[in-house]
Amino acid sequence: MGMKENVSKPLDRLSAELAGDMDRVNALIRERMASRHAPRIPEVTAHLVEAGGKRLRPMLVLAASRLCDYQGESHILLAAAVEFIHTATLLHDDVVDESAQRRGRPTANLLWDNKSSVLVGDYLFARSFQLMADTGSMQVMRILANASATIAEGEVLQLTAAQDIATSEDTYIQIVRGKTAALFSAATEAGTVVSGADPAVQQALFDYGDALGIAFQIVDDLLDYGGSTTTIGKNVGDDFRERKLTLPVIKAIAAADATERAFWERTIAKGDQQDGDLEAALDILKRRGALAAARADAIAWAGRAKAALAAAPDRPLRAILSDLADFVVSRLS
Ligand code: IPE
Ligand code: IPE
Ligand code: MG
Ligand code: MG
Repeated sequence: MGMKENVSKPLDRLSAELAGDMDRVNALIRERMASRHAPRIPEVTAHLVEAGGKRLRPMLVLAASRLCDYQGESHILLAAAVEFIHTATLLHDDVVDESAQRRGRPTANLLWDNKSSVLVGDYLFARSFQLMADTGSMQVMRILANASATIAEGEVLQLTAAQDIATSEDTYIQIVRGKTAALFSAATEAGTVVSGADPAVQQALFDYGDALGIAFQIVDDLLDYGGSTTTIGKNVGDDFRERKLTLPVIKAIAAADATERAFWERTIAKGDQQDGDLEAALDILKRRGALAAARADAIAWAGRAKAALAAAPDRPLRAILSDLADFVVSRLS
């Protein structure tokens, strides 16, 4: 069995391990995504929810609470709340990015319109806060409220960094830590906090989620150049078209000669893009080793995620979470 087979299983193993709880989370999601007063809401939410999605973030909540021997019921509410925050940000993100495909389906903004996506996204955000309130825990309310603010900050920071070819790797990490990793770390931290675990364990699971989220987004950004639309369920090349300074591009710009620099200035800074430019960008990224270097960074973040688990309780689930970090990066091979 090759490495691919070994690491392609963690998501399935996690699903199998958490199946009973995930069924309850999915039932709660279905119940709370409906609205009796505005038919557009269930239309849009059903379109997205029935398309699936990996349910990675709710599984992180459940896994963290299980790892800490949690005996209560709040983890189900928290997991559903986290998936609602995620789904709300996807609805808003596809409007901002003018994306046409999500989860292998046309986006809501394409099928309906931007107005519906923004408003149904707001609705799901509000529903997530109701779920958090149902837990009665001020601590988890604070964690998820903070994460929601941080995600929005990350998206806005990215908006103002787009087209700016002077964007640094530090700024990139700040963006992805906000827009993506904040919800991963909030999921694992909230699952730990609700269980009343030690501060050291809370910190360990927070650090795991943070590093896993950063690795995940670096990989997502690599797939936007090197993936295929069928496997990622989204259109490739969106980031280039949106003139985003993702990690491979930042690395290629740092290594650019005069001709390449002129290319990045025209396509990213000025936004003057022609047919064949995406392919030309990909050629430069390969020639400059920028894809390989970004991949190495993703592997390093996955390594940090695994290292953080050393301070987590030693349970079978811990090994699955460790393998999950490898799996996130294995999507590239
Ligand atoms: C997509 O996240 C948004 C990013 C942070 C890149 P996922 O890839 O986890 O989305 P779904 O829920 O499985 O569709
Ligand atoms: C994902 O960001 C959305 C959030 C994390 C809020 P991207 O725009 O990079 O991801 P995709 O490619 O649309 O899923
Ligand atoms: Mg997007
Ligand atoms: Mg985006």
